[in-house]
Amino acid sequence: MTAVEIRKEGEVALVKIDSPPVNAAGYDVRVGLVNAIQDAASDDAIKVIALFAAGRTFVAGADIREFGQPPKLPGLPEVCDLLEASAKPIVCVLHGTTLGGGLEIALSCQARVGIKGLKLGLPEVNLGLLPGAGGTQRLPRLVDGKTALTMITSGKPISAEAALEAGLLDDLQDGDPEAVALAAGQQVLDGTLKTRVTAEQDNRITADELNTFRAKAKGELVTRALKAAEASSLPLSEGLQVERDLFVEALGSNAHKGLKHAFFAERAVAHIPEAKADARDLKSGGVIGGGTMGSGIATAMLLAGMPVTLIEMEEDRVAFARETITKNLGGAVKRGKLTEGQRDAVLGMLTCTTDMAALADADVVIEAVFESMDVKREVFGKLDQICKPGAVLATNTSYLDVDKIAATTSRPQDVIGLHFFSPAHVMRLLEVVVGKETAPEIVATSFRLAKKLRKIAVRSEVCDGFIGNRILAHYRKSSAYMQLDGAPFEQIDAALEGFGFAMGPFAVSDLAGQDIGWATRKRQAEFRPAEERYVEIADRVCEQGWFGRKSAKGFYIYDGKTRSVNPAVAEYAQVEREAKGISPRKFTDAEIVDCYMAAMVSEAARVVEEKIALRPIDVDAVFLFGYGFPRHWGGPLQYADITGLDVLVQRIEEYAKEDPYYWQVPALLRELAEAGKSFNDLNKEG
Ligand code: CAA
Repeated sequence: MTAVEIRKEGEVALVKIDSPPVNAAGYDVRVGLVNAIQDAASDDAIKVIALFAAGRTFVAGADIREFGQPPKLPGLPEVCDLLEASAKPIVCVLHGTTLGGGLEIALSCQARVGIKGLKLGLPEVNLGLLPGAGGTQRLPRLVDGKTALTMITSGKPISAEAALEAGLLDDLQDGDPEAVALAAGQQVLDGTLKTRVTAEQDNRITADELNTFRAKAKGELVTRALKAAEASSLPLSEGLQVERDLFVEALGSNAHKGLKHAFFAERAVAHIPEAKADARDLKSGGVIGGGTMGSGIATAMLLAGMPVTLIEMEEDRVAFARETITKNLGGAVKRGKLTEGQRDAVLGMLTCTTDMAALADADVVIEAVFESMDVKREVFGKLDQICKPGAVLATNTSYLDVDKIAATTSRPQDVIGLHFFSPAHVMRLLEVVVGKETAPEIVATSFRLAKKLRKIAVRSEVCDGFIGNRILAHYRKSSAYMQLDGAPFEQIDAALEGFGFAMGPFAVSDLAGQDIGWATRKRQAEFRPAEERYVEIADRVCEQGWFGRKSAKGFYIYDGKTRSVNPAVAEYAQVEREAKGISPRKFTDAEIVDCYMAAMVSEAARVVEEKIALRPIDVDAVFLFGYGFPRHWGGPLQYADITGLDVLVQRIEEYAKEDPYYWQVPALLRELAEAGKSFNDLNKEG
């Protein structure tokens, strides 16, 4: 199969792009387009060219996999120039998601016809780039300045209707792309569809509009895209050169590397060994436990159109669960995701009861009760009696052993861990924890469920804390060590917020409630190895009943929306230092970030080494979609690749001089560093 085919019908040359899955403008498509246009140009019988694509979409962009590889000519800019210079008019028929390089192809043609349902956009800023094949120069010549600048700087697509109104589309039709293309070609021939050369149109961005966008521009990515758009006031060839230079600059940036990695991470995690197993039907769901987590899970299922049965032990808890779910759905109404009528319909699909027998018909049941092995084992024993054969029996435990829970049933092959993140109807991550006995179909069904719930599922093996919480438990300690060694906690938070985290670790503890971590520390105290450093500052805070936001005091003091530092924390730190003979030292923000990230990378590397995660990119996805990791760094192991694995090994060895128990170079990290390889090399092997 060739990526571009040409078929001639009378005076119309029909040029079809056919490069699944999304017709990205990779090398084969570009060469194919050049050949097809040249073929049509040299055929005297052809008077008009109609360009369209097969499959689910017109070109969805440049081929992102080619970025960072040596360029293969012709590049997309050359192809676009060729289309624009064509002596025979080219009408382009667009469907699906015409994005990035796809829209740039369309902008270079002499007329554009959309097919209903089409979305058009320039999402390059989301990848740390800017349109690099004329998008910033040609779009402002076809639409008003505000529309052009919004599309270029926001990356958000617009609807076909909006594009028609703005003049980006010349017509909007319904039907099959090939038939529409033939009809559009005929219309160009008979003059009912007008054509124009984009380069000959005037740029419509005004100085005022530029100033307005500049004033609200945040960050390097948007500023760079605006600079390119500003150049559209120059003659086209000069503007294109400015755009190209800025595009090349963006291509070399770390932000682009991180964001590109994040794009692929979202998709790579679906590639699991069980992908081909027969996933089961998922018509209805059950949830046990109506606390914040259980109610959130039930809300997510309801929003996906699944009838849900929720079980609570007491009648007043049943009423509370229904209230929480109603409130959650109310939030969706407020955010414009649901109408009030839809909310009422969705609530009609919810049954809340104390009777576990009501779960008999559910296709998937998710347990979200108290984190106690005894309680969970009792629940699963009952589920084994009640649920129909083939139902998925899932536990939402965040660290307990899924295999031990499965062993209480006569069907451990149907048991799996589905670890949601709070609030479960909002957070995108779902860790799918595969037990020793879990059947491949149950894994495939869980991934299907995630898709239905619009979540990103990541496969994890069983271990304490699975991928995310295990790594968190480790690196969280590094911030307490830095605090004891002299860094004020508010400096640690600010440094990590400067790195890109939405919140620093101390602010997060206050938000989550410090009592949870305190209880865990008390439980673990008897197993704590003697060599492990232990920092007591947070315990002192908790002893005062200061658990964070919910008690208006924690590391910070909360007053409405403002927060200030709790001065007692520094005193506790000083008392502990004196007792332990530690003389405090100053940390720079960069030292804080280096140390915190080295701790995170260490445990992440061990999780890959022990095959808890399938690939490094799976760990990255967990942190991107469940832990607010800054997207432009692409995840902890992509950060490691960008920083350099040899640099990280040296850093850890340096820290180990002070604390050889906590700081140990993971074998995999050392091995990769010595071989001059990266974590991303393992992604390609996996
Ligand atoms: N390049 C390479 N591969 C791409 C791609 C692209 N532009 N867009 C999607 N793919 C791949 C995905 O990685 C995925 O591969 P796997 O199945 O192997 O995981 C496959 O195509 C299907 O993609 P989705 O699962 O995302 O399919 P979807 O139907 O849910 O969504 C889509 C389709 C809306 C097009 C979505 O894939 C998307 O948003 N793609 C990116 C669009 C984009 O950013 N384009 C701009 C590129 S940059 C550019 O064009 C620069 C320039 O100016 C020259």
